[in-house]
Amino acid sequence: MSSFTQPTELRPQDQLIAIAAMADVYLVPKPAQSQPSDISLLIERYRTTRLTALQLDPDAFGSTYAREIQFTDEIWLSRLLNPLSKTLVSVDVKPPPTEPVDLARHEWLGTATILGPKVLSETKGSSLWTTYTRDNSNDPPDWPAVKDSNAIYMIAGVFVHPSRRRQGRGKRLIRAVVSTATEEAKSAGASRVTILLEIESENQVPDRLYESAGFWAVDREAGVRQNVQQLLEYSQNEKKRNFLETVELQIGLKNYDPQRDKRFSGTIRLPNVPRPGMTICVIGDQHDLDRSKHLGIESASVDDLKKLNKNKKLIKKLARKYDAFVASETLLRQIPRILGPGLSRAGKFPTPVSHAEDLEAKVTEVKSTIKFQLKKVLCLGVAVGNVGMTEDELISNIMLAINYLVSLLKKGWQNVGSLVIKASMSPPKRLY
Ligand SMILES: CC(C)(COP(=O)(O)OP(=O)(O)OC[C@H]1O[C@@H](n2cnc3c(N)ncnc32)[C@H](O)[C@@H]1OP(=O)(O)O)[C@@H](O)C(=O)NCCC(=O)NCCS
Repeated sequence: MSSFTQPTELRPQDQLIAIAAMADVYLVPKPAQSQPSDISLLIERYRTTRLTALQLDPDAFGSTYAREIQFTDEIWLSRLLNPLSKTLVSVDVKPPPTEPVDLARHEWLGTATILGPKVLSETKGSSLWTTYTRDNSNDPPDWPAVKDSNAIYMIAGVFVHPSRRRQGRGKRLIRAVVSTATEEAKSAGASRVTILLEIESENQVPDRLYESAGFWAVDREAGVRQNVQQLLEYSQNEKKRNFLETVELQIGLKNYDPQRDKRFSGTIRLPNVPRPGMTICVIGDQHDLDRSKHLGIESASVDDLKKLNKNKKLIKKLARKYDAFVASETLLRQIPRILGPGLSRAGKFPTPVSHAEDLEAKVTEVKSTIKFQLKKVLCLGVAVGNVGMTEDELISNIMLAINYLVSLLKKGWQNVGSLVIKASMSPPKRLY
């Protein structure tokens, strides 16, 4: 029988927590300090929900109905009290339940459990996929070890009652477990969060669900690595050019009508600067002009801009000369007045910087930030790296860019037709 955990080892969780902005998703309280009758209610609800899931979808889980029907109340309670796990449930109750035991009085229409965090060093010599075993999934988290490390979580037991499927419940549950884990890892000082899940069934439904929540199939990640290796091998060794080639991510969309569907645009900061040679111009007040000069960054004053005299040709030329602009916060408002819409049209409206901010860091931020903007056509390309990067640097930029792009799309992966990476002079490599 599983062992009981002392309530004192638990983090205080006995209040009912609705996961923010996900009105129907609640964290099941640890029943440590509850009344015995309330504990029985919680156990009963937990047991019924889990057994229903195992009965209705026998292929979806690593366990079976025949096994769990034999569990005693003590086992169910020890699962609920497991310090390594949190169970989130979806309920339809108005007004929302306020007392922990209220949650047990209503049917759980969906569930998802998250185990964690663990760190790799705990299980030396093993891979991500052996971090969780049946034997170690009840140990309390080792919080000091989580600090500055990669916090590894695992999602299990995802289920939505068949009568309530296709209403976004599954998606909301997954988003909620992801944000719960991420917040927790962040507050424990983790430097990274990895969330694992294994899909037992052969059906495609969970695949789509997880892809729409930004998960990557591991074989796909392996595919990206292989393509990146080949691309770098070509550009660093086989056909090395005498300039730093940029690596572009080219995206072909599908099931998207740029005339009717909303045109999206969004920016994201990548971990590594894709194009270190990007040219930046600081439009500065005296303080920022001085700082730019000191840092060797090109700059222009308001008077310089006024000299362009609103001449469209000259303004276009200025917009073309630089890849991006940074402007003193104090001047930002004046810029459209002095230059007209020229910079915005070129997609280069300046990023503001205040005197309190570090100008060099701001320039790096601007250089690391990429923009996805859909115009009239179904393909777009963005610079995500260069061939001087290491394999890991390039992969992390590519993965982040793709995941972010997918999050912008109305139907997630279902809108992605193709993904290609290509260095300036290399043949294209298809990722998807
Ligand atoms: C997988 C499961 C949890 C999805 O729950 P759900 O509440 O229906 O999911 P959502 O409504 O949030 O759907 C999310 C996305 O999944 C995909 N999806 C869900 N059901 C689908 C279906 N029957 N066919 C195709 N795609 C489907 C869609 O992409 C959907 O997004 P969309 O509706 O915007 O197109 C639910 O089907 C289930 O409990 N299945 C049995 C148990 C199981 O397989 N668990 C997963 C273990 S890893």
